[in-house]
Amino acid sequence: MRKQIVAGNWKMNMTFPEGINLIQEIINNPSSLKGAQLIISPPYLLLNQAVKLTQGNNISVAAQNCSEHEKGAFTGEISASMLNSLQLEYVILGHSERRAYYGETDQLINQKIKQCLANNLKPIVCCGEILKERENNEHFNVVATQIKGMLEEITAKEFKSIIIAYEPVWAIGTGKTASPDQAQEMHHFIRETIRNSYGSEIADNLSILYGGSCKPSNAKELFSNSDVDGGLIGGASLNAEDFIAIANSF
Ligand code: PGA
Repeated sequence: MRKQIVAGNWKMNMTFPEGINLIQEIINNPSSLKGAQLIISPPYLLLNQAVKLTQGNNISVAAQNCSEHEKGAFTGEISASMLNSLQLEYVILGHSERRAYYGETDQLINQKIKQCLANNLKPIVCCGEILKERENNEHFNVVATQIKGMLEEITAKEFKSIIIAYEPVWAIGTGKTASPDQAQEMHHFIRETIRNSYGSEIADNLSILYGGSCKPSNAKELFSNSDVDGGLIGGASLNAEDFIAIANSF
C-alpha cells in the first residue's frame, strides 16, 4: 500500500508568530491525526520550530527548496545538510514558481535532488505543464521530459524516497482545478513512466500528489482516483481547518 499524503506548501506566507500560530492550530485540531500523512512546508525561518512543535504529532516537515551546492560561498542559500541537521524529512523541489521566477531547469533540479538524497532528505519533486502546452496537447511530452531530466542518474534504490507532485501550472493559485479525469490520466501516465524506468515495485509504491487549487470542496473527488495519492496544497494550507478537511477527504 502506498502512502496517502497531504502536504501544505505555505510559499512566502506567514510571519514567525503567524506561522507558529498556524502550526499550533493544525496540531490542536481534534481530527488532525486521522487520514493521510500530513506534511507542512513553512518558509525556512519557521522550519526549526515546525520540527520541534510537530514532534510526536504524526506531522512531517518539508523545506520549500534547497541549494544545488554542498556548501560554501553562496550567499542567501540553504544547503541540504543544513536542512538535515534540523531533522526534517522532506524538501519540495522543482516547483513551477521556482522554474518560472528563478529560472530553475530540470538539470538544476536534478542537482538539488542529488543533494537531498545524499543528506537523507526525501524530495517532493514537482512537474506540470503550462496552459499553452495543454492546449497544444503537449502535456504528456512536457511532463515526461521534466521527469526524465530531473531524475537523471537517480538509482532505483534512491528513488524509493521520492514523491512526485503533478501540478498543472494553469491550476496553481488560479481557482481552476484539473478535472478528476485529467488528474487521473496524468497520474497514471507518470506512474507508467516510472514503471518503465524503475520497475513495478517502485511504481506501485510511489505516492503521486495532485497540486493546483485543491480545496475541501474538490479534494474528495480528486483523491478518489486510483493513481491520485494525495495533494500538494498551496492557498488552502494556510487555513488549518481547510487543510485538515482536505487531509480527511480520503
Ligand atoms: P494552490 O498551490 O493550491 O494555491 O493552487 C498549489 C501549489 O503551488 O503547490
